[in-house]
Amino acid sequence: MTVHFIGAGPGAPDLLTLRGRDLIAACPVCLYAGSLVPEAVLAHCPDRARIVNTASMDLDAIIAEVQSAHAAGQDVARLHSGDLSVWSAMGEQLRRLKALQIPFTVTPGVPSFAAAAAALGAELTLPGVAQSVVLTRTPGRASSMPAGETLANFAATGATLAIHLSIVNIKQVVTDLTPAYGADCPVAVIYRVSWPDQRIQRATLGTVEQVLDPDIKRTALILVGPVLEASDFAESCLYAADYDRRYRPQSAESPWAGWSHGDD
Ligand SMILES: C[S@@+](CC[C@H](N)C(=O)[O-])C[C@H]1O[C@@H](n2cnc3c(N)ncnc32)[C@H](O)[C@@H]1O
Repeated sequence: MTVHFIGAGPGAPDLLTLRGRDLIAACPVCLYAGSLVPEAVLAHCPDRARIVNTASMDLDAIIAEVQSAHAAGQDVARLHSGDLSVWSAMGEQLRRLKALQIPFTVTPGVPSFAAAAAALGAELTLPGVAQSVVLTRTPGRASSMPAGETLANFAATGATLAIHLSIVNIKQVVTDLTPAYGADCPVAVIYRVSWPDQRIQRATLGTVEQVLDPDIKRTALILVGPVLEASDFAESCLYAADYDRRYRPQSAESPWAGWSHGDD
């Protein structure tokens, strides 16, 4: 018996990895975080699967479900939204499973920031504009932030920011970021990306509070940074015709001449 943690993606049932889909289809038990994982994803479960929405359960109750499947020798598909590496609460579940010596696997998923960038048709790292993306959040009722992980500190780098779990704090986001980025800095709010009711609102730090639909109170990502509107950025060296590189040596004297893929 194994618990398979599976990144369920941003919402659309076809934004799963093939491995994730196949594991869901093979598990007789499915525990899913129903606050963010839509029921459409559960269509991949086998007929007669035991399907449990864990949104209203505490950690002890979730682990009790796992233990009962373990006692019955039944594999469990454990679904969390997006990818499991950020804000999934997987860490505390893994700690319990390790203590109980219950085997597990982890299958990554499409994170919401990547799905949001795709919905915008945007690359978040453009040459000379931004080469880093900061995945962050603001403090919430149940979660404080470690000292130093402030929006103002991240803003000082000029990186592209992907701010999660923070749409209700939009006023504070604007206050903290405007000194570093300026009121003209582009902002995009992406609500329920890949869901049937996905919405995209584009603005600037100066206008986003007025533009934002007040009904958008959760499941939205705030992307901030000059890359969102940049058009005069430099082309990368990667595809430059005269750039000497491993995959395209420019002469017999190139350090890459004679290199074969097997060398790497
Ligand atoms: C608990 S975190 C989960 C993050 C998730 N593990 C991921 O990889 O994106 C929930 C936050 O992620 C963002 N989020 C998750 N799914 C989203 C979606 N479909 N559209 C927009 N934002 C989403 C929102 O900022 C939301 O408040």
